[in-house]
Amino acid sequence: MKVLELYSGIGGMHYALRESGVAAEVVAAIDINPVANAVYHHNFPETILINRNIESLNVQELNKLGLNAILMSPPCQPFTRLGLKKDALDNRACSLLHILNLIPELKSLRYILLENVKGFEVSQMRDKLLLSQSKHSMLAEKSGKINTKSGRMCYTLDNILENVEESKYLLPSKLLQKRAWVLDIRTSENNGSCCFTKGYGHYAEGTGSVYCPFADETIKFKYSEAGNQENNSDKQVQLLSDLKLRFFSPKEVCRLMCFPEDFDFPKHITDRQKYRLLGNSINVYVISRLILLLHTENENI
Ligand SMILES: C[S@@+](CC[C@H](N)C(=O)[O-])C[C@H]1O[C@@H](n2cnc3c(N)ncnc32)[C@H](O)[C@@H]1O
Repeated sequence: MKVLELYSGIGGMHYALRESGVAAEVVAAIDINPVANAVYHHNFPETILINRNIESLNVQELNKLGLNAILMSPPCQPFTRLGLKKDALDNRACSLLHILNLIPELKSLRYILLENVKGFEVSQMRDKLLLSQSKHSMLAEKSGKINTKSGRMCYTLDNILENVEESKYLLPSKLLQKRAWVLDIRTSENNGSCCFTKGYGHYAEGTGSVYCPFADETIKFKYSEAGNQENNSDKQVQLLSDLKLRFFSPKEVCRLMCFPEDFDFPKHITDRQKYRLLGNSINVYVISRLILLLHTENENI
């Protein structure tokens, strides 16, 4: 199967395709962000990676690739709950509109897998997608009914922790003062986390979970003591600091998102850039199951 990876970022879809076990080759990956492209190329030096605006693609060149599938994670800002929800009218939706116009002309295309945020499923863009793909296989509309148990063991977070230089990832006092009460705190005994978004490591509210090396009882105790202190007092901040709350390191976030161990960032990429790129990416394992499902469900059609 020949696959085109659009909005390829750091290659989450490419890893998911590998993990799915479906016999396929990424014939081209396209993204406009040079930092993401540097990471992609570092990990997939053999893949043709095109640094280009997707709006400039045309039918002739895509048909030359002999595509059977498109995997894509277009920008989510037009649809996200926190945004203005301008939907198809948002400038950041132009490239997807362009692709949807090309899709009916792509002769060998069989599968489309499009990943996006909650909100997309009720957007006008989703209606346009359904119109454009009438002759192709879509999983998105079926996924709500699927409830298969994965063969994977549910693991606790101690399996993904690395020995980090603690001070590097500790939550600063200022952040504790302002946001301690809205943090999603996880310990090594827990087996889940919140979704990580691109502001992680900088903002703490709603951007992903933070890690505490102590047990739940200690966390409850310290929080209850801190709650009895005057707000923003030194004593309150000290009690919260005692918990040594820290951000998960980029490597730990990679593991939580099921990137393989050999996934690597080039040396020049900063932690902040890593969090941004990971926050834009996908859970490799989840997408791999969807690819497998899409492929096997339609194998006999
Ligand atoms: C949600 S992220 C997808 C991330 C990717 N799935 C991954 O695993 O990292 C969207 C990506 O689309 C790229 N992008 C946005 N608009 C684009 C356009 N018009 N042309 C090419 N790439 C674009 C961004 O640079 C970003 O990397």
